[in-house]
Amino acid sequence: MDKLLVEGPCKLSGTVKISRSKNAYLPILTAVLLNSKPIHFKNLPELRDIKTILKLLEKLGVKITKKENITTLDASNITSYEALYDMVKTMRASILVLGPLLARFKTAKVSLPGGCAIGTRPIDIHLSNFEKLGAKISLEGGYVEAQTSGLKGTNLVLKFPSVGATENLMMAAVLSEGETIIENAALEPEIVDLGNFLIKMGANISGLGSSVVSIKGVKTLHEAEYEAIGDRIEAATYIMAGLITNSSIKVEGFDPKHLDAVLNVLEEMGAKFEIGKDFVVVKSGELKAVKIETTPFPGFPTDAQAQIMALATQANGSTIITEKIFENRFMHAPELQRLGAKIFLKGNTAVIEGKSELKGAQVMCTDLRASAALVLAALASKGNTEIDRIYHLERGYEKMEEKLLSLGAKIKRIK
Ligand code: UD1
Repeated sequence: MDKLLVEGPCKLSGTVKISRSKNAYLPILTAVLLNSKPIHFKNLPELRDIKTILKLLEKLGVKITKKENITTLDASNITSYEALYDMVKTMRASILVLGPLLARFKTAKVSLPGGCAIGTRPIDIHLSNFEKLGAKISLEGGYVEAQTSGLKGTNLVLKFPSVGATENLMMAAVLSEGETIIENAALEPEIVDLGNFLIKMGANISGLGSSVVSIKGVKTLHEAEYEAIGDRIEAATYIMAGLITNSSIKVEGFDPKHLDAVLNVLEEMGAKFEIGKDFVVVKSGELKAVKIETTPFPGFPTDAQAQIMALATQANGSTIITEKIFENRFMHAPELQRLGAKIFLKGNTAVIEGKSELKGAQVMCTDLRASAALVLAALASKGNTEIDRIYHLERGYEKMEEKLLSLGAKIKRIK
């Protein structure tokens, strides 16, 4: 298993280009199952999660071809309606094939994803609302089996604005008869991006970006080309890499409006930015402690919580972080403590006492964003940090060592 070796502390400089969003591309790729015409995607990021979803789609019969930076998916000849446990257990987003399969083929069998490191993560909101659209759902042998004689649009009210459920239901509604209205829909930019992609294929959707999304069913979809938005969480991570190393860097290739909540908190901490249309220039400065709560968009994203915990170790005063989305998302805290961070946990609240002198140590990645937090802390730690289990990092950060190396970090992969 590969490890990353980081020698700190370091100064960064230059520009880093953000990849296309993994969390936008995952539902967008599954949405090809709705369409019998080929779809051409630009700049799919080379990430483990993207490879996993492509492998799953291939198993269902999707033909995938690649020419330079264009990947074409052709779902004209689907041969299976089953997502097996082996695939779903490695990536929960596999559940997103359920809506499109059910809508186009009236049947789908998908393994229950089970819990994961950051929490139990049930899919009750997906399933109860598929039933409202006219699906018969049964749970057997660890699988969700869904059948329908034809989905029919109706009013759906989500009990929580789940990102995955909003996406799954939006996709199913595209080919349902009549109008589906999703109330209390999630507002994340990745959902708007999925909606824009569905519209590009011929779907009839209004209200994108608001909490009430309306989808009028259509009979068929057409060929399309698409490129997803820049990855706002990757951008947030590099912005914090600039801040934790007290460096000035430019982070480009994403929409800073998608990061309002994060940039506001960082400004409250004392960070200074130049904000452009598709870039942020980070100016270094002294940081101070703040209070942070993770909430659904437009609030502070849970996917940036681990990274800001690493940054908070270098702020003056005590930062308080409350994790409101996932019940078990502080697994990075004990690893950060190994580097010298002073973090106290109680339930879903963490208190981070700054300003700690971090020292290199051996640490281990526990999940995707926890891994990013360790890399950030390692950049600010004195001496060598050896980061193990970096396959977590490879799920969601494209070419992270290359990007950090080009910014001037001392980082290398060891076998
Ligand atoms: C997506 C993101 C993930 C991010 C999360 C929250 C992708 C591929 N993943 O995950 O990176 O951390 O949004 O922003 O885009 N819940 C239920 N029942 C359900 C569905 C969800 O109780 O049927 C709960 C979950 O357990 C969790 C919360 O709702 O506590 C948020 O989950 P959700 O918004 O669905 O996140 P995901 O789509 O899984």
